[in-house]
Amino acid sequence: MIEKNGIVQSVEEIQGGIFILKVQSELIAEEAEPGQFCNIKVSDSLIPLLRRPFSICDVEDDIISFQFNLVGEGTKILSQKQNGDILNIIGPLGVGFNYSDDFENAIIIAGGIGAAPFPFFTKKLSIDKNIVSLCGGRTKNDVVNYKLENVVIATDDGSDGFHGNVVQLLESEINKYDKEKTKIFACGPNSMLRALSKFTIDNGYECEISTESVMACGFGICQGCNVEGVHSDRFLLVCKDGPVFNAKDVRL
Ligand SMILES: Cc1cc2nc3c(=O)[nH]c(=O)nc-3n(C[C@H](O)[C@H](O)[C@H](O)COP(=O)(O)OP(=O)(O)OC[C@H]3O[C@@H](n4cnc5c(N)ncnc54)[C@H](O)[C@@H]3O)c2cc1C
Ligand code: FES
Repeated sequence: MIEKNGIVQSVEEIQGGIFILKVQSELIAEEAEPGQFCNIKVSDSLIPLLRRPFSICDVEDDIISFQFNLVGEGTKILSQKQNGDILNIIGPLGVGFNYSDDFENAIIIAGGIGAAPFPFFTKKLSIDKNIVSLCGGRTKNDVVNYKLENVVIATDDGSDGFHGNVVQLLESEINKYDKEKTKIFACGPNSMLRALSKFTIDNGYECEISTESVMACGFGICQGCNVEGVHSDRFLLVCKDGPVFNAKDVRL
């Protein structure tokens, strides 16, 4: 884990309310793994007080990218950054995706801005794995598929692609893949992750989910980001034990 002042390279709105922020930070770029996140101090003032956590979206040489949704004060400040601005960043943090085990097919399940960690993940995997990216949203405007491969879209209202949610899309597609050679990787809202975890556990698929929680420190000190573990009576910390967990290990 490194605390570093990064230099903003660009901020670009790629679709309504979704931004890509590129920051030069050589040391964080060197250490980063897909699924890890950074905790960003969005302003030099005390407002907002807390850092804001964002998944590492991509790494190109010494540049890290973040993909974020404009939701409140912190992301508004980030969206207005100028090239050359300095950002204090702690990262890379947490446990990322485990993609070293023996599978051939990676099925990415992304709900809305949950697509954020997958460009970097796709880059690491695409050399020797088959990747399909199932991207869902309430409407076509909520679907995010920036730098993803083999995209299949699902929308709740049927405005694009499969008419239904992304877990229902997975259920309709899953028979194309050999269960023993397939692993599922997901990020999105808790309701989606809950439905996905139930489906994958009931049907015997390996699945990792990237979870979210309100965070303060981002590295295990404040105990503010706990999630219920399945196998022990201790709570797990999203920032330190996660944010990526095996779907069998957490109760959302
Ligand atoms: C590990 C992790 C990775 C994330 N990755 C991404 C990402 O790649 N792209 C993205 O758009 N969003 C991501 N988020 C969510 C992102 O951190 C929040 O959207 C952001 O902090 C909102 O800040 P805000 O000031 O604009 O909104 P606020 O006005 O503060 O709040 C808007 C919403 O964001 C939530 N929120 C506020 N502060 C935090 C915080 N410190 N931690 C978590 N949630 C918070 C609030 O509960 C509320 O629902 C991630 C969250 C976590 C925990
Ligand atoms: S955010 Fe402080 S322990 Fe997780």
